[in-house]
Amino acid sequence: MRAENISKRFGAVVALRGVDLHLNRGEVLGLVGDNGAGKSTLVKILCGFLRPDSGRILVENQEVHFHSVKDARAYGIETVYQDLALIPQLTVYENLFLNREVTFLGRLALLSRRRMRALARQYLEDIKVNVPDLESEVEMLSGGQRQAIAVARATRQNAKILLLDEPLAAMGAKESALIMELVRDLSARGVSMIVIDHNYAHLFALCDRLNVIQQGKVTVNTRVADTSIEELTELMVSAFRRQLQAGQEALGEISA
Ligand SMILES: Nc1ncnc2c1ncn2[C@@H]1O[C@H](COP(=O)(O)OP(=O)(O)O)[C@@H](O)[C@H]1O
Ligand SMILES: [Mg+2]
Repeated sequence: MRAENISKRFGAVVALRGVDLHLNRGEVLGLVGDNGAGKSTLVKILCGFLRPDSGRILVENQEVHFHSVKDARAYGIETVYQDLALIPQLTVYENLFLNREVTFLGRLALLSRRRMRALARQYLEDIKVNVPDLESEVEMLSGGQRQAIAVARATRQNAKILLLDEPLAAMGAKESALIMELVRDLSARGVSMIVIDHNYAHLFALCDRLNVIQQGKVTVNTRVADTSIEELTELMVSAFRRQLQAGQEALGEISA
């Protein structure tokens, strides 16, 4: 998958200013950057939730035009959103089927709740997730369990490309380890992934390559095997300096 020169603004806020990014087949790409840098906006564009103002997206070298999340899903693109998009008052298995087979169910009304529960159990087993009770309301579960359900839902449709927006945020060490193992398993099965996270130790353990987003632009692109945390920090600092300098020059022009 490739994004070329993607820009997006929300009113006066420029969230993305000409982002170029690519994801190779089977690769885990880590995306880092400060709050507000534009990471989630980029993910939402790649999964069809938002339309870019300009730029293009290519999947397998073909330009694609996503008008909805469903369009992107047709290309095997699945997303775990930062805000999870689970409904707390629904049960585990109801959440697993949310917005998916629900329409299919409505049309055919063949898949019984019993069958849905059996399928749900299978999906969770497939990715080695232990949820005590499929009938529990999601509200009752820990952050890690909720995250696991969101990941299970995103992965069970034979996703080819998985976009994970801060899957480890607000998670304990044990839960993080569970999700990291899931990511590794999926990667071993050939799923390509973009993972957003703030923890460099996690990213260095999970990713093949890292991109840094600063103020709506990808400023650093480096293979994990070719870099260290110290080196990455230096790259980020010099990219930040360049941005600062460009900003100061622009200000100078305005005041001149
Ligand atoms: N729906 C929206 N409406 C207005 N501004 C938004 C919206 N979504 C994101 N933004 C703004 O765009 C910028 C990038 O946000 P976001 O992509 O969420 O950053 P990140 O995920 O890197 O923290 C921020 O300044 C944010 O406030
Ligand atoms: Mg975000």
